[in-house]
Amino acid sequence: MFQEKEKETMEQEWNLMQRGKVSQVKGVVLLKGACDYWNEIWDFQAKPDDILISSYPKSGTTWLQEIVDMIQNNGDAEKTRRAPTEIRNPFLEKIRLPYSGLDQANKMPSPRVIKTHLPVQLLPPSFWEKNCKMIYVARNAKDTMVSFFHFHRMDKIFPDAGSWEEYFETFLEGKGVWGSWYDHVKGWWKAKDTNPILYLFYEDIKKNPKCEIGKVMKFLGKNLDEKVLDKIIYYTSFNVMKKNPMSNYTYDSSMNHSISPFMRKGVVGDWKNHFTVAQNERFNEDYKEKMADTTLSFSMEY
Ligand code: A3P
Repeated sequence: MFQEKEKETMEQEWNLMQRGKVSQVKGVVLLKGACDYWNEIWDFQAKPDDILISSYPKSGTTWLQEIVDMIQNNGDAEKTRRAPTEIRNPFLEKIRLPYSGLDQANKMPSPRVIKTHLPVQLLPPSFWEKNCKMIYVARNAKDTMVSFFHFHRMDKIFPDAGSWEEYFETFLEGKGVWGSWYDHVKGWWKAKDTNPILYLFYEDIKKNPKCEIGKVMKFLGKNLDEKVLDKIIYYTSFNVMKKNPMSNYTYDSSMNHSISPFMRKGVVGDWKNHFTVAQNERFNEDYKEKMADTTLSFSMEY
């Protein structure tokens, strides 16, 4: 009963909350908070033992954060549930006061695991200078687009994305928040040739979690036995994370999960339920052009 009342109050507050605004940094659309504090973000001082988790939004970042945390805690699920995702891993450029990922990261003792959605050209230089380990997760553009569209509907930190048709155009034009998906995945793909970056794909983790989680483990210099690995696979599975209040973002007051839950579907190929035949054709043609200059290849089918 109490929970129902609390939920009702939260929804009333959400309805009254103003939607977030965006602006631009060097031609990339970012949330206003990041633009307002851009100089401070750019000057952020990374430390050599920082680990950076990077992605275009909606590519499985939270999933990877949970995997990394479980690995670092040797598969101890209780330790991993010590705090919500965003408290465990500061979200560097998210500044919506009183939350400031930047402040949180600055105050946090090492070793730090920091999250960002910044494209390579906007990553604070100290991460490169300090040779930090970085893990990038990429997800196929069609599913990312669908997931981001629903996320816009439920999270008030974003401006209204308009209709699905409107958002589809915004995405293709690279005018969405955090810029062009195409430039983002290609930029980080190229950066991995000269920097310590582990580049993962959402679809691979979904298909073969043991192998992909094993890669993360190795990259972090950990050697956990098979039993612990199985435990990590279980605790980072969609259904378990969806029920875990520390990883499902139900603590976040800017999100309204009754519109669309943060842990929405967690599948490959949901785009098929959203793209019209005409949109798919247009997308494929445009995709071929934009991705002609990369060796990157994505699986878009289940
Ligand atoms: P959907 O909206 O398609 O369900 P991010 O953390 O980068 O914002 O990405 C969120 C997306 O990853 C959402 O996709 C969410 O459901 C999915 N996701 C989160 N945890 C997952 C898990 N353990 N397994 C599969 N997908 C997961």
